[in-house]
Amino acid sequence: MRLLLQLALAVAVAGAATATTTTHLRFYMHDTVTASASSPATAVRVVRGAAALPGDAVNRFGDLYVVDDPLTEGADASSAAVGRARGFYMFASRTDSALLFSATMEFTSGKHSGGAVSVLARDAILDEVRELPVVGGAGVLRGAAGYGLLRTHSFNATTNNAVLQIDMYLNV
Ligand SMILES: *[C@@H]1O[C@H](CO)[C@@H](O)[C@H](O)[C@H]1NC(C)=O
Repeated sequence: MRLLLQLALAVAVAGAATATTTTHLRFYMHDTVTASASSPATAVRVVRGAAALPGDAVNRFGDLYVVDDPLTEGADASSAAVGRARGFYMFASRTDSALLFSATMEFTSGKHSGGAVSVLARDAILDEVRELPVVGGAGVLRGAAGYGLLRTHSFNATTNNAVLQIDMYLNV
């Protein structure tokens, strides 16, 4: 009996291992702080922090932005839409330009359409690469685990608008 149970368990574990696939997704997030003719503001500051950040003339410790950023296939904002990143980021360090970034990335096209992943990350915005831990998934991505790598593709210091490149590695 015990042996049978162990066998059944081993088969179940082997089955679970083969059912998991790693998927790589690359897409771009358009964080528009200053609206233009081609885009409304998709990142809106809702709280202004009280304390200046050393070496950062623009941002303050405590600044909080709500975001509803479009996700596209390419770096160009007019490339094919793949979804939205909805959530917030706040300047959560008194000493560095580092955010707590939390969002759901909802996919609206392709084979992950209707799926979403939730990320919760430390985003030190001046670092070349930031890691986005995936804390869960929903819809066709229910149970997703993995991580993303976030890179600043372009940043305009006049408007504060940024295009971020995201490589997502998901186990579903
Ligand atoms: C930054 O944005 C301003 C205002 O839209 C624009 O005039 C300027 O050309 C942009 N700079 C770059 C490097 O794209």
